[in-house]
Amino acid sequence: MSEIRVKRIKKLNVRITVPGDKSISHRAVMLAGLAEGKSRVTGFLKSDDCMCSLRAMQALGARVEVLDDDAMEITGVAGECQQVMETIDCGNSGTSMRLLAGILAAQPFAARLSGDHSLNSRPMKRVMAPLTQMGAYIESEMKNGCAPLRVSGARLQGITYKLPVASAQVKSCLLFAGLFADGSTTVIEPTQSRDHTERMMKHFFVPLRTEELTSVVHGGSIPQGRDFRVPGDFSSAAFWLAAAAAFPGSMLSVEGVGLNSTRTGLLSILMKMGAQIREYVETGNDTEPHGNLEIHGRGLHSVVVEGKIIPNVIDEIPIISVLAALAEGETIIKDAKELRVKETDRIAAITQNLRAFGVPVEETEDGMIIQGGNPLTGATVESFGDHRIAMAFAILGLFSEGETRILNTDCITTSYPGFEKQLTQIINA
Ligand code: S3P
Repeated sequence: MSEIRVKRIKKLNVRITVPGDKSISHRAVMLAGLAEGKSRVTGFLKSDDCMCSLRAMQALGARVEVLDDDAMEITGVAGECQQVMETIDCGNSGTSMRLLAGILAAQPFAARLSGDHSLNSRPMKRVMAPLTQMGAYIESEMKNGCAPLRVSGARLQGITYKLPVASAQVKSCLLFAGLFADGSTTVIEPTQSRDHTERMMKHFFVPLRTEELTSVVHGGSIPQGRDFRVPGDFSSAAFWLAAAAAFPGSMLSVEGVGLNSTRTGLLSILMKMGAQIREYVETGNDTEPHGNLEIHGRGLHSVVVEGKIIPNVIDEIPIISVLAALAEGETIIKDAKELRVKETDRIAAITQNLRAFGVPVEETEDGMIIQGGNPLTGATVESFGDHRIAMAFAILGLFSEGETRILNTDCITTSYPGFEKQLTQIINA
């Protein structure tokens, strides 16, 4: 099992790029795989999670030709998937499992979805319930609302569904199912979650209507193949942005990164905390806004993170908690109960790890109260098998006295295979 060791540094001054966006990569291969015709996808993230989606689409009949390191050509199934006899392995990827459940629910065959121990412990009722309302047969093998799932394809009926929690995975699952359903499928969110599926469906010429918190897709529309470039992953850039923000006198710029506002809530939080940020949005491609960021570090102060912004920073809460430890004052994070059912219980994991560094933190049901600005001592902490916990605490190690060891870091390859190498480069730049 691998580990990462880090020591304190003084500041950062570097220009970087980050690998392709994980959420967008999943959707790009799913839509290109379902489409009629060929699509050239560039910038695809070759992480464990996204490879699960790519392999699943290949198993369903999509043909994939690797063109070079960065590009592949996908010939889609034109809406007619082939039967898959073997279990579809989703590894650690909730996005693969929930989105594929939507696609499979409508196919004229049965399929089985499973994953690793963590994924098979995460709640799947949130997709099973609405899919069942649409007429799907979907069963949790252990009868515990978790995977392995058996999906027996059926003719689906469009429904109108109000999501009980803001979840892009659940929304996307239903929009994918809706592509194949009779009539129209309407999904209404309580607050805006990431909108990559909606944008990607429109990119692939699916007639989809979106208005504020409502998305409507009409059944029977086959996506049409089209080239697509995946921008850099803002959630990967977040680790370096946070590190630069918290070192006074630092400068970091990130080029070619996704700047979709349903993902970049961290920028407004960093600005509230005192960082100086410049955002340069490139024009000419409105499918996924992207561009460059430049951040200058200053002394940070505490912040309250709550309410509507939570879905837009849901993957950044581990690194926001690290920032809270580095900022003067008391940071409150609330309305983030969803963190309890991510790759691990992130509220428990963050609390335990922050305490190991000497940070006073109170765990609440839906968040944390973190006292920042205290001296930090390097610690040996667990990743809990969660990539974002591993990376966030490697960053905290850069600010801590003595050595920090993050144990069990293999999980980082689910979203950011080159993280450790880039960490070394950035430290030595
Ligand atoms: C994702 C949506 C989010 C996020 C996850 C990726 C996606 O989950 O936490 O890492 O790609 O749709 P929820 O939609 O379940 O909140």
